[in-house]
Amino acid sequence: MGEHQLKNLLDQMTVEEKVGQLVQLATPFFKGASDRGEITGPMVHMNIDEDDIKRTGSVLGASGAKETINIQKVHMEENRLGIPLLFMSDIVHGFKTIFPVPLAIGCSWDLDLAEKSASIAAKEAAVAGVHVTFAPMVDLSREPRWGRVMEGTGEDTFLNSRFARSFVRGFQGDLENDPHKVASCVKHFAAYGAPEGGRDYNTVDMSEWQLRENYLPAYKAALDEGAQMVMTAFNILNGMPSTGNEPLMRGLLRDEWNFDGVLISDWGAVKELIPHGVAENEKQAAEKAMKAGVDVEMMTSCYVNHVEELIEEGTLEENILDEAVLRILQLKQKLGLFDNPYRGASEKEEEDYILSPENRKASRELASKSMVLLKNEGTLPLQKDQKVALIGPFADNTDILGPWSWGGSAEDTVTVASGFSQYLNEDQLLTSAGCGIETGTNEQLEVALEKAAQAEAIVVALGEHSDMSGEAGCRADIRIPEVQLELLKKIRSLGKPVTAVLFNGRPLDLREVTENADAVIEAWYPGTEGGNALADILFGEVNPSAKLTMSMPYSVGQVPIYYNRYNTGRPEGAPDAQERYVSQYLDIPNEPLYPFGFGLSYSRFEYEELTLSSERIRQDESLSVSVKVTNTGDYAGEEIVQLYVRDLVGEVVRPLKELKDFEKVYLHPGEEKVVHFTLTEEQLRYYHANMEHKSDAGEFEVFVGPNSRDTKSERFRLDRK
Ligand code: BGC
Repeated sequence: MGEHQLKNLLDQMTVEEKVGQLVQLATPFFKGASDRGEITGPMVHMNIDEDDIKRTGSVLGASGAKETINIQKVHMEENRLGIPLLFMSDIVHGFKTIFPVPLAIGCSWDLDLAEKSASIAAKEAAVAGVHVTFAPMVDLSREPRWGRVMEGTGEDTFLNSRFARSFVRGFQGDLENDPHKVASCVKHFAAYGAPEGGRDYNTVDMSEWQLRENYLPAYKAALDEGAQMVMTAFNILNGMPSTGNEPLMRGLLRDEWNFDGVLISDWGAVKELIPHGVAENEKQAAEKAMKAGVDVEMMTSCYVNHVEELIEEGTLEENILDEAVLRILQLKQKLGLFDNPYRGASEKEEEDYILSPENRKASRELASKSMVLLKNEGTLPLQKDQKVALIGPFADNTDILGPWSWGGSAEDTVTVASGFSQYLNEDQLLTSAGCGIETGTNEQLEVALEKAAQAEAIVVALGEHSDMSGEAGCRADIRIPEVQLELLKKIRSLGKPVTAVLFNGRPLDLREVTENADAVIEAWYPGTEGGNALADILFGEVNPSAKLTMSMPYSVGQVPIYYNRYNTGRPEGAPDAQERYVSQYLDIPNEPLYPFGFGLSYSRFEYEELTLSSERIRQDESLSVSVKVTNTGDYAGEEIVQLYVRDLVGEVVRPLKELKDFEKVYLHPGEEKVVHFTLTEEQLRYYHANMEHKSDAGEFEVFVGPNSRDTKSERFRLDRK
């Protein structure tokens, strides 16, 4: 069907049918769904009937070829014009083969593997009948209290933008010709990651300067890569809920960025305009969201019950409705649904592809590349001939998939204990929980201590259960629960080498953990192959290479904390700083416990000979930056070499350091490599007070190093002409 035919189709549609396309309901509403039984109540509640369901445009959360085919079949028979349904789902970090959570993927700094993970997730979902994924989530966040930090790749604009592109490429690829790809919906527009106090759904208030400089680029990157859809955010932005925010949606997203794809509300967010206090009732909520340009209303019924009336009384122009419908039809067309409403759905392919050994292998590889070694006093790797006690609530726990992994299952998940059993025989491995995640008993503790006493090395697997992060998973105290810290301290008192492994979805205050362990590794939620990936690292099969993409705070009191901060007029540590009147805390340091970009290896990498090709460059020239990196340790391994820049004098303040590039190098013991970067004027641009994006002539400092703290630096000047 061409554009002309789509318009013809639109012409044949009644207003009711058009509005139906804007409605998205969850699977149980549809005939043909396996769990349809319970739906009468919600339908009454939403004031919708069977005819509304027949006209609905899209389905939320359906999966499984059998079910999606069935729902579509019934729908095609019942929809007057035979307009197929779109199936949308949250395929965030895998469908059945679960990959590490996105924050962990960020720490791999591995754009290719990130793309591959999205591509596998897309195919697993597509054969199960899914057409659109609500991913990537690219909300920049400096807020470890916010549970959803695990859904994004971290605190850095540049890195998040790169990952946004990789994910979109992986999900979408050649969408129009490949039924194994799914359309990507970037979310949550905009600035959802900056809620006050780190509390989910809370107020966001930031300057346009901050928004454009740091928060918007990753959404834009996803759209530049071709993401077909955008989802609104729950939060207000500068006083106006995103979902009814006309300047943001029509002004910025559509007019300035020329986005012509489908904009969907987040779950129930149209109706939430009422509790936000910007709409009196559902009708006004519908009006505001429609006028803002929100095409699809997810899970509430303001549109279906009121848009027709709004048009009839002249409050809303019908062409606003027509534009929204056309965008939805165009997406259905792109996905090939008018030719084949079942698209990639195939029970046979589900059988062959989902959780295939190759998919598991990719997940294992990405998981081992995303675990960050934070401390190692010579304890790791473990010896394979030792007796090892594996203690802690995550020792043999399948809750390591993390939030947003609803397609994954416990039976398919490799726990730490089963991962270890690949390297140790039965009598070398002593496993015991020691306590639960939030509570414990003396009995549990005693069993664990007794086992630990028999071992030569102890691994303590600690963390947060997956409901402690993710949506609505906010915490004000970002330490691991007290009972686990107590367990660790008791284990530590045995005087044996202790490795602490952490499973969690946010940067934590790890002070007490690092004080009570000889080695610490942040495993995040590593996914289906988590136990294997961890074992690969701990037993030295894989040399850790991941680096943090969010600062690990010293204490929650530092939050929000991020490396690319500004200097203040009274910076701590300046040569003329006074003792008291400087920007500092009296009780804790300013610096995080572990900075952005930090992560250890079993090897050591030395940085020497940082060289710039010139002391000055003109605007049309580029600067070459090189550094010699040598592996001075005993293990072959990968190092992530990071390049940062500081603009020493700007029209507005500039960050102390900003990541501009990175390079991964694999080096054998004793091997050295010269790593080259190229810096151009474009990379030195920033938002000025009048929102112009340009660079300034003047002096810049270039930093290269293994993390954002331990860098070498040189200076150069940018000349206008
Ligand atoms: C979340 C979205 C998600 C949607 C659909 C909402 O609660 O905020 O990220 O895509 O639900 O499941």
